[in-house]
Amino acid sequence: MSVAEIFETMAYGPAPESAGPAREWLEAHGPALGHYIDGRFVPSADGATFEDLDPATGKGLTRVAQGGAADTDAAVASARAAFTSWSRTPGHARARYLYALARMAQRHARLLAVLETLDNGKPIRESRDIDIPLVARHFYHHAGWAQLMAEEFPRDEPLGVVGAIIPWNFPLLMLAWKVAPALAMGNTVVLKPAEYTSVTALAFAELAGRAGLPPGVLNVVTGDGRTGALLVGHEGVDKIAFTGSTEVGREIRRATAGTGKRLSLELGGKSPFVVFDDADLDSAVEGVVDAIWFNQGQVCCAGSRLLMQENVAPALLDKVRARMERLRLGDPLDKAVDIGAIVAPVQLERIRRLVAQGESEGATVWQPSWSCPAEGLWYPPTLVTDVAPASTLAQVEVFGPVLTAMTFRTSAEAVALANNTPFGLAASVWSESIGRALDVARGIKAGTVWINCTNQFDAASGFGGYRESGFGREGGREGLYEYMRPSWEKRAGSASTPVAQGKPSGNGKGNGHAGEAVSSNLSRPLPAGDVVSQTAYLYRGKPGPGGAPVLRDAAPDGPDGDPFAAYPPLDRTAKLYIGGKQARPDSGYSRAITGPDGTVLGEVGEGNRKDIRNAVEAAHKASGWAAMAAHGRAQILYYIAENLSARADEFAARLMSLTGVARREAMAEVEAAVERLFTYGAWADKYDGQVHATPLRGVTLAVNEPIGVLGLVCGDRHPLLGFISLVAPAIAMGNTVATVPSEQYPFAATDLYQVLETSDVPGGVVNIVTGDRDALARVLAEHDDVQGLWYAGGDGDEEVEVEGARRVEALSAGNLKRTWILDRPATRDWLDAAQGQGAEFLRQATQVKNIWAPSGD
Ligand code: NAI
Repeated sequence: MSVAEIFETMAYGPAPESAGPAREWLEAHGPALGHYIDGRFVPSADGATFEDLDPATGKGLTRVAQGGAADTDAAVASARAAFTSWSRTPGHARARYLYALARMAQRHARLLAVLETLDNGKPIRESRDIDIPLVARHFYHHAGWAQLMAEEFPRDEPLGVVGAIIPWNFPLLMLAWKVAPALAMGNTVVLKPAEYTSVTALAFAELAGRAGLPPGVLNVVTGDGRTGALLVGHEGVDKIAFTGSTEVGREIRRATAGTGKRLSLELGGKSPFVVFDDADLDSAVEGVVDAIWFNQGQVCCAGSRLLMQENVAPALLDKVRARMERLRLGDPLDKAVDIGAIVAPVQLERIRRLVAQGESEGATVWQPSWSCPAEGLWYPPTLVTDVAPASTLAQVEVFGPVLTAMTFRTSAEAVALANNTPFGLAASVWSESIGRALDVARGIKAGTVWINCTNQFDAASGFGGYRESGFGREGGREGLYEYMRPSWEKRAGSASTPVAQGKPSGNGKGNGHAGEAVSSNLSRPLPAGDVVSQTAYLYRGKPGPGGAPVLRDAAPDGPDGDPFAAYPPLDRTAKLYIGGKQARPDSGYSRAITGPDGTVLGEVGEGNRKDIRNAVEAAHKASGWAAMAAHGRAQILYYIAENLSARADEFAARLMSLTGVARREAMAEVEAAVERLFTYGAWADKYDGQVHATPLRGVTLAVNEPIGVLGLVCGDRHPLLGFISLVAPAIAMGNTVATVPSEQYPFAATDLYQVLETSDVPGGVVNIVTGDRDALARVLAEHDDVQGLWYAGGDGDEEVEVEGARRVEALSAGNLKRTWILDRPATRDWLDAAQGQGAEFLRQATQVKNIWAPSGD
């Protein structure tokens, strides 16, 4: 008998990992596991517990405490108390703690791996070789960030108490993804694990205590969705970091709306696995196994849609079926098993229901000839063909070992099919042509794209979604920003300080002669030798004698003795600006805009829902803007600056008449707007990505991509500068925008139409709809084709602003668009460069796509 024959006939014998030490741990901590609060295990205040199953047997594993209000209160209080000292603990000391946690995870790797497998049903091979090593890697990597925080992020600080809510598919790894960056950046944590898989979080918390982590820095409260909801609604929590289903993500978005809590969501996906005809098909088949049968397909980024170039589809499917026949499903503690058990009866039921629905829609379902064990929760690897792009199995996340296969002919069709779901978490592209693979990778809307590989994860690379797969990144430098905020926010105090006490009359909002109050609030005292004189050359041409700037008096009404003074002034009506053209408002109404003394200065169009829809459509049509070279976008931003500068006097006069500010302040505002345009012209080709240092042989490219169409809602403070401060970074990064300018002072923006027209801004890149700010913001928030929404406060009335922000966040839950409330928790001073421009804006205007491209033959 040859070696090859022996190899063929050799049957696997069982190779079980012992569950002994893990069961001893459970017994020692049982009969019911408590919460871990303030450095010790405690039962629920009301004694409530629930049963936790071993999915491989379907029998009880242990009991777990069901957290109620008293338990979340205690955990949050403990985290809050610990925050004071933890946030002041030097980075180096925090780094040592994180290093110790990494070491703990390694020293107890086998205990944690077996506990994970018992609780979740995943094969020991995966928990031992993937989950736990990555947990250690996350803590090591973030120990490094704790060490470097002061040096690398001198202008940021921790958020406070982080509420982390995690799912059951990678229990300990998801803990690490949230806890490691949170602690590294100086936050404290209350973690709620998923109800099906609480064990390893508690074991880890205990190890953390043993490693000397101060009590309260990491707390674990167990329970189901009700406990999660208590944490989400808790006033003492500053940020919610959530991974789980899109539906619950939406609920959390609504629940946190307007509270000022920061939020990151890592939600579901329906990730494409694209195979071109020039791919190495055998490698691609191994990739498929990894993409959809890893962790029983219960992976948010599972490659659940196999998209095959038509001419290789039959050969590829044959290979996939042959491989499926040889997959081994069974006891997860057996080291030779590929596929383990499904986490819970409800999940198994969901998979069965969705596959049955697919069959009833005409899909062909294929499963291998072998059968699953009789006891326990199992579902065989499944291949589904004959599906239409809009059918259930092509659209809905199954979260099980079910692969849906479809074909395409061209690259363009592959990209269109890949993007044909509301999700955008990950993708895998297989082709031996690197040019084609990179091109397709850029075209797919997803936070991670793997080229000729799949399911590569590393702490050095960010992971997270586009579109309804959520927002925020976990891992890498980009993930750290989820756990920090700019230090100026605290210095500036809370936004509860009213922005402008008095408001001018007119627009139905003011209360009489408040012009002075507005003026003093809008203006900032300028020091001698102020910004106006320093940069006067930009808008004044040559300086006057002695280098002093020559400031003309404002003369908006024309000189005395003008022979035409007897004529009435020429009517100028500001229309809307949509698709590069001035457009009449759909409503057919206009609103009067008054100056501080109540005189009517002119009228602007009363925009409505239809106008916003038109603006968004025009913005979409201008999507070629993103493909333009960054240098080209920079040139246009400089050109806008140049044209604005040429008309600085006119704009300053307009600001004076609109807001009542003194000339000096008006000029400073115009000048700051010019400079801001320069800033983003400068950034346009410099805010580039990174090559992450992951273990992959090849490159992991972190690419900053535009978000798409952004809705920008401006406040009334510094109406010109405020407008430019939002529009410039957004378009510099390749987004197109639908903007609602200051409601009180819209002329500051409508006067820009001609500036935009003369600056080569392509039609549709900047769209402007004037009118009722909050009504228009609402339409933008509800619009499913708007990918992001920035809301820069309102007229200074705190109640209105809080309600406006709440509404924007709540209504944005529909398509889970990214929202950014600019004046919460602190009111932004547009004239201060630290608050009004820079990296924070650029980050908000982009999303990171990580492209993993291995090298070698
Ligand atoms: P889920 O979203 O309900 O659970 C995730 C976590 O959120 C758990 O800790 C849960 O207790 C908590 N939670 C539930 N309701 C909550 C609420 N109202 N407020 C705060 N926290 C709440 O996910 P589930 O039910 O376990 O799985 C359902 C589907 O979700 C899966 O079939 C899959 O499609 C998707 N899913 C996606 C995950 C991902 O990684 N993207 C992970 C888990 C599930």
